[in-house]
Amino acid sequence: MKLLHIDSSIQGKGSASRELTREIVARWVAERPDTEVTYLDLAAQELPHLSQKSLVRADELEATRNAEALEQFLAADAIVIGAPVYNFTIPSQLKAWIDRITVAGKTFTYTANGPQGLAGGKEVVVAVARGGVRAPDASGNLASRT
Ligand SMILES: Cc1cc2nc3c(=O)[nH]c(=O)nc-3n(C[C@H](O)[C@H](O)[C@H](O)COP(=O)(O)O)c2cc1C
Repeated sequence: MKLLHIDSSIQGKGSASRELTREIVARWVAERPDTEVTYLDLAAQELPHLSQKSLVRADELEATRNAEALEQFLAADAIVIGAPVYNFTIPSQLKAWIDRITVAGKTFTYTANGPQGLAGGKEVVVAVARGGVRAPDASGNLASRT
């Protein structure tokens, strides 16, 4: 089984969602040792936002990274997503990834009844963190600031 582990927090070591996804993936692998984990850090390796250039595939490197993101998503049986709340919504880095995997004919199709997903059957865990700001103290331990 293939598991795609995604983090999108911009808060580095102080990130609550990174701590959560790490724990979830560790438990998953402990329960299903046959799991092959692929890690994607959207804050460290940001995907470009959609632009006119993206739509016409003007940039070869961007088109390649898009194709990789889509393949990685389609290949995964399970996905664990760290989704912090910033300014009342998900990080723009995570939205940029969603834009890359939302591809007509690959992950959804339009029907008379509206859009229909084509990538069903995946187990998806979304680890949401919101509310406080956490930062490492001098010893590197996480501390909450609310
Ligand atoms: C720039 C910024 C904006 C935030 N906006 C919100 C918000 O709108 N609502 C909320 O409940 N928490 C908000 N928070 C708090 C975060 O959700 C909280 O720090 C959470 O731990 C973020 O996940 P992370 O630690 O994995 O980055 C914000 C934090 C930051 C740094």
